[in-house]
Amino acid sequence: MFKFVCNQLSRLGVPMNRMFVSLVRRMHCGMGKCCRCNIGSTYTCVDGPVFDYWSVMNLKEAI
Ligand code: FES
Repeated sequence: MFKFVCNQLSRLGVPMNRMFVSLVRRMHCGMGKCCRCNIGSTYTCVDGPVFDYWSVMNLKEAI
């Protein structure tokens, strides 16, 4: 869903660093202890859970 909405916003001229997505659904413990929310070396609970779209695009399997 994020991918399609952000692509449409991008076509309308919204810069990628001005679009924000929440990856809160990936979180489990929310404290950086369970290691279940990581995307590569990025922990959703510690580093987010809200990221700009530009950052999320570079995270494999984030959206
Ligand atoms: S939610 Fe458990 S480590 Fe991020």
